[in-house]
Amino acid sequence: MKKTKLAVIFGGKSSEYLISLHSAASAIKNIPNDKFDVTLIGITSEGKWLYFPGSIEEIDNNTWFENPNCCEMILSPDAVLKGFIKLNNDKTFDKVEIDCVFPILHGKHGEDGTIQGLCELYGIPFVGCDMLSSALCMDKEFTHIVCNSKNIKMAPYMAVVNEKNLDLKDTYKKVLENLSLPIFIKPANAGSSYGISKIRNYDEFEKGMNFAFDHDRKVILESTIEGFEIGCAVLGNGEILIGEVDEIEMYKDFFDYNEKYHSTTSKIHCPARISDELKLEAKETAKCIYKALECSGMARIDMFLTPTNEIILNEVNTIPGLTSVSRYPSMVKVGLNMGYTELIIELVNLAMNR
Ligand SMILES: Nc1ncnc2c1ncn2[C@@H]1O[C@H](COP(=O)(O)OP(=O)(O)O)[C@@H](O)[C@H]1O
Ligand SMILES: [Mg+2]
Repeated sequence: MKKTKLAVIFGGKSSEYLISLHSAASAIKNIPNDKFDVTLIGITSEGKWLYFPGSIEEIDNNTWFENPNCCEMILSPDAVLKGFIKLNNDKTFDKVEIDCVFPILHGKHGEDGTIQGLCELYGIPFVGCDMLSSALCMDKEFTHIVCNSKNIKMAPYMAVVNEKNLDLKDTYKKVLENLSLPIFIKPANAGSSYGISKIRNYDEFEKGMNFAFDHDRKVILESTIEGFEIGCAVLGNGEILIGEVDEIEMYKDFFDYNEKYHSTTSKIHCPARISDELKLEAKETAKCIYKALECSGMARIDMFLTPTNEIILNEVNTIPGLTSVSRYPSMVKVGLNMGYTELIIELVNLAMNR
């Protein structure tokens, strides 16, 4: 059987660059060589695209771009070529045809529809949600707008743009009229809890707003949802598969960067310690959210379960963490009995049959 020519893109000009390296390293380890011809393309944190012929370790320890055999790689805008132009170090160039792109990029310039748009323009199938869906899920204001219009419950919210004449004192008044303390302040477009704070008074509000504005021109304010966080791994295009529901057990204010990647006080339970009825409801809700935001390929749907057993959407991650201990592959393994290698085969299959 002919092997599928798969381009894995990792890194990226995003605050989640390093996380992408770990996700990519795990995914690459699990790509079966008998089915795929893999081309590795790294994007440096400055945004330079490089062909990378080295080892997984160099990706994992962030030395990959120092490999002397790296060379420039350009995604060709030629929809007939469908692939990349490799600018070799000896000044020659090669055309590298690709059947499918697997962007393993988190956050801005990767998970937000930009790479997806390029692939759509150049006619190359790619793993994960399309351009529109990726952009909607990345921008927390637009996730709210679409979900509100489709009757999907989310926290009460406000969006604030960092304009020249923004008066924070005045904004705080409006915030208190519309939302209830404590309030979450989040950059509209970020991830891994970067720029997020939970505030209880004006001083914290001012600090939190400036902190969030360091990450994005637009921030989202949300009333705090009581309860705990659950997640669902969703997989598919028209026909949808749902993995096990997981749960984040936490003793801190929120699931911050440190907890996400070092789990000091938090713990992920997969399956979640909730009733079968609630699990079923969470899965059904996740499916509705996936459809409402026109997701395809994959997404991890993060929700809250309140003390009165209400399920409320927090956010949708269109390129969820993909390390071997990440939530998405674990939920797929536990719920669908699908290992990481099978998952990759399925994701590429979904991309090529969209
Ligand atoms: N409205 C909210 N109510 C309660 N907790 C929240 C709320 N919004 C965010 N959080 C907490 O902050 C964490 C990060 O927020 P999230 O919207 O998921 O941002 P990111 O895209 O950075 O992961 C969540 O996992 C949760 O612990
Ligand atoms: Mg999150």
